Amino acid sequence: MGQIFSKKIDLMIRGALLVAGLGAATTVGGMLFITHPKRIEPGYQPTQPIPYSHKMHAGNLGLDCLYCHTTVDKSSYAAIPPTQTCMNCHAKVKGQSIVLEPVRKSFELDQPIPWVKIHRLPDYVFFNHSAHVNSGVSCVTCHGRVDQMIEVKQVQPLTMAWCLECHRNAAPNLRPAELVTKLDWKPERDPVEIGREIIALKKINPPVNCSGCHR
Ligand code: HEC
Ligand code: HEC
Ligand code: HEC
Ligand code: HEC
Ligand code: HEC
Repeated sequence: MGQIFSKKIDLMIRGALLVAGLGAATTVGGMLFITHPKRIEPGYQPTQPIPYSHKMHAGNLGLDCLYCHTTVDKSSYAAIPPTQTCMNCHAKVKGQSIVLEPVRKSFELDQPIPWVKIHRLPDYVFFNHSAHVNSGVSCVTCHGRVDQMIEVKQVQPLTMAWCLECHRNAAPNLRPAELVTKLDWKPERDPVEIGREIIALKKINPPVNCSGCHR
């Protein structure tokens, strides 16, 4: 452990000492020694237990993201839908399909489908979906064109530098909150101007201090 991370952490903590003072730096450093997870990389695309396609459901059929990810604008996490949501349609639609057998089984046995999680931040990072979605940051900014993906994959690095780049300059990435799930939305005028208006209206001020994301 020490050998792999100590140099980098040392540098980070020295930086933090300058920027944020001793208190925050020791907390962050302490957390890191306890849990340092595997790095998360763009392109990560695990095999899922059922060949569920976002391209078909969110793209071709036009289902809104919120139909399934019901908590994304209300809580910190974006819920994966329960099997009941699939059965709303698949009790009838393709009711005999072999690829849907695990869905029917999950429903009959009342056991959740073991979907494999794709995006994962380290435990020492605080993230909140609703704070972003309700400010007008679209799913597409962080997850890409999910409505065109047969299988979801991670397209953004989800690193601290990536988070901070937007936190320091959010304006180009904001839109009216009711359009966050319209992944193909195109602004009709200067997006920076639209963003600045939203920032002023909602008094948006994303955290750039350590304790904003490392609580
Ligand atoms: C019919 C239900 C449904 C709809 C509609 C839907 N999703 Fe999903 N979503 C799922 C299911 C099921 C999974 C888990 C399996 C998978 O990853 O494909 C998932 C997974 C995801 C993941 C990966 C989560 C992880 O594990 O990190 C993202 C990101 C995502 N959806 C975004 C979206 C976006 C954006 C939209 C709208 C364009 C959308 N979804 C619409 C059902 C849905
Ligand atoms: C709003 C209705 C609706 C919901 C909700 C829905 N689906 Fe579908 N699904 C469809 C339709 C329509 C098709 C395409 C059927 C066809 O090709 O004729 C389909 C096709 C599929 C297929 C391909 C079936 C085959 O035999 O080729 C799979 C797998 C699938 N859905 C999984 C899911 C899962 C898993 C969920 C829940 C996360 C889900 N669906 C939720 C309507 C829905
Ligand atoms: C500012 C970036 C950002 C935006 C905007 C965003 N997400 Fe996420 N999403 C993430 C990150 C980061 C994770 C991993 C969270 C974790 O591991 O704690 C994630 C995880 C997920 C997951 C997996 C379940 C979970 O909560 O960990 C789903 C599903 C998801 N997002 C769907 C969506 C949908 C749908 C939208 C738009 C309505 C959206 N996200 C908007 C960054 C974002
Ligand atoms: C594309 C722009 C963008 C990206 C990328 C982004 N954020 Fe944000 N973040 C925002 C905006 C806008 C807000 C809302 C600030 C406000 O309401 O004052 C915000 C708010 C937050 C907050 C405060 C939430 C609260 O409840 O107080 C945290 C924590 C946060 N972001 C963490 C992260 C992390 C961690 C990442 C990277 C994994 C990230 N953000 C990526 C734009 C972004
Ligand atoms: C906008 C959110 C955000 C802010 C603000 C933030 N961080 Fe981070 N930090 C992250 C995320 C996300 C990760 C995990 C991904 C990564 O390693 O880049 C992380 C990882 C780290 C790591 C581990 C890096 C590594 O390579 O293993 C250290 C150390 C750290 N942060 C210290 C700090 C310090 C010190 C500050 C204040 C100067 C700070 N962070 C402010 C989001 C943030």
